Amino acid sequence: MTSPVLLTSRLARTFETKRGTVEAVRGIDLTVRRGEILGFLGPNGAGKTTTLRMLTTLLPPTSGSATVAGHDLARDPAGVRTKIGYVAQSGGVDPAVSVREELTTQARLYRLTKPQAAARVAELADELGLGDVMERPCATLSGGQRRRLDIAMALTHRPGILFLDEPTTGLDPGSRAGLWALIRRLRDTSGTTVFLTTHYLDEAEALADRLVIVDHGGIAAEGTAEELKIRYGGGPGATLQETFISITGRGTVTGDSGTGEPVAV
Ligand SMILES: Nc1ncnc2c1ncn2[C@@H]1O[C@H](COP(=O)(O)OP(=O)(O)OP(=O)(O)O)[C@@H](O)[C@H]1O
Ligand SMILES: [Mg+2]
Repeated sequence: MTSPVLLTSRLARTFETKRGTVEAVRGIDLTVRRGEILGFLGPNGAGKTTTLRMLTTLLPPTSGSATVAGHDLARDPAGVRTKIGYVAQSGGVDPAVSVREELTTQARLYRLTKPQAAARVAELADELGLGDVMERPCATLSGGQRRRLDIAMALTHRPGILFLDEPTTGLDPGSRAGLWALIRRLRDTSGTTVFLTTHYLDEAEALADRLVIVDHGGIAAEGTAEELKIRYGGGPGATLQETFISITGRGTVTGDSGTGEPVAV
């Protein structure tokens, strides 16, 4: 087994609110191998985004520790940031500037020279299918184009680990297929590790090497889709949707592998 590229130990985060303490993440232990596509699933409010925000240095853990791409999260957050890319659940690009400017600024932030930045931006435009909108202000992009720009921004510095928080929500089927192909290509050609959150179980099943299912801030189950179906879904013939509901007691947005009907969450 290759060495883990990400390790957490009892990683936890609470939030103090007027109505008391929210235990968003309750001490999770994760091991992710280099080049693995990990599907990080769970119902709304399970703690997925909070975990991703901690692992990407945006939110300090309340307790516990993590090593991300060889850097200790608490002691060397700047080191972690050089090795990762993060596509947040809701992206944050400047609406007024053009797509090309936004990507170029990002590349320059990562210390690429002007010619290097221009070359990298051209590559990203091609990979993410943004060629036709490069001169348009970000505000004018469609939802799917915006999502592809968010992903291009996260890939600018060729990160070893890519964190994607619901990257395909709102994408049309063609764009979704394109993104799946890109994720596989990153893994296969660059050995990129992908930490993927999604509510689409067909997507999780198609892409992820392994699934971790979180619920109420803790890990409820982990394994390959087939392993989980056998252990929790009643057998290999079970759908991932049935398995997910049996693990969490709650549904999520279904994909092609489910019943076809959205299940209330
Ligand atoms: N800043 C905050 N202050 C208070 N509570 C918070 C804060 N951020 C998150 N929470 C709470 O922590 C819990 C986990 O939230 P989180 O966003 O991690 O869930 P999630 O699994 O990403 O859900 P979704 O699938 O809806 O995106 C929720 O109960 C949420 O309301
Ligand atoms: Mg979330």
